[in-house]
Amino acid sequence: MTQTASVADARRAVIPMDAPIGAELTGLDVAAGLDDAALAFVRDALHRHAVIVIRDQHLTPAQQTTFAKQIGEPRVSFYNRYAVPGQPELSIVSNITENGEAIGIADAGMLWHTDGSYLKTPDLYTVLYGIQIPERDGRALGDTVFASATHAYEALPDAERARIDGLRAIHSFERHIEKKRAKGQLKRAPLSAEQKAALPDVDHPVVRTHPVTGRRGLFVTEGHTAEIVGLPEGEGQALLERLNRHVQQPAFQYRHSWRPGDLIVWDNCAVQHLAVFDYGALPRRLHRSGILGPVPV
Ligand SMILES: [Fe+2]
Repeated sequence: MTQTASVADARRAVIPMDAPIGAELTGLDVAAGLDDAALAFVRDALHRHAVIVIRDQHLTPAQQTTFAKQIGEPRVSFYNRYAVPGQPELSIVSNITENGEAIGIADAGMLWHTDGSYLKTPDLYTVLYGIQIPERDGRALGDTVFASATHAYEALPDAERARIDGLRAIHSFERHIEKKRAKGQLKRAPLSAEQKAALPDVDHPVVRTHPVTGRRGLFVTEGHTAEIVGLPEGEGQALLERLNRHVQQPAFQYRHSWRPGDLIVWDNCAVQHLAVFDYGALPRRLHRSGILGPVPV
């Protein structure tokens, strides 16, 4: 090991959040690139804590993409109109408009969800980098709230766990858009017929096993899960509502207050998340990369 590496190793630390999930990682300069040891450190912390926060980073879009490619294989978003120019794997999450046009997705995460669950192969991890963070009276706005799907599953009564094991549920992008529209929250351009055809409903297990840690977690969300396969409509909806209320309890949450330069990675197999829209027209901009995952089992 070189001296530089050992100095860097000594500065590295994992500081768990005061929450059941989440940890801050120190001693990392992501722009400079991560060696194998640093990458193993990041992956291990991610799998232990489900949400990792690396503060005070200074990343160009290309450097964020390089980092995302070290974590896994980034997805090229089907919302190409909101990609960072020259970086098809990076999407802009923003409420900013330029020349009357939205520069990014303005309504991401208004309902509890996991990224890409409406796809056959959902995003396993998400990398989100804070660039412009609104604040009011010195307090940051636009928090992201995470809820542990694994803790929630483990906290269910035995009878409820037995009841849901083996069930499958439908995840629907179109249904999600309709839910947002019904709440008056839809701010993005409507899907084209071609995009709709490319996003048919999919079904996934209600309880998912993590491909790396082997831990089981709830895999139904308020945002995207439309129904339980094989259950009568009323019974399925009642079960979904019960599970959604359960996973959304504060006891399972970590709430992240953003600062510019925060680089966050979360594990979509272990957590659900929600965006807090409390900043009105104050400008906000983040860059997001989704990392491809396997078919959920
Ligand atoms: Fe999301």
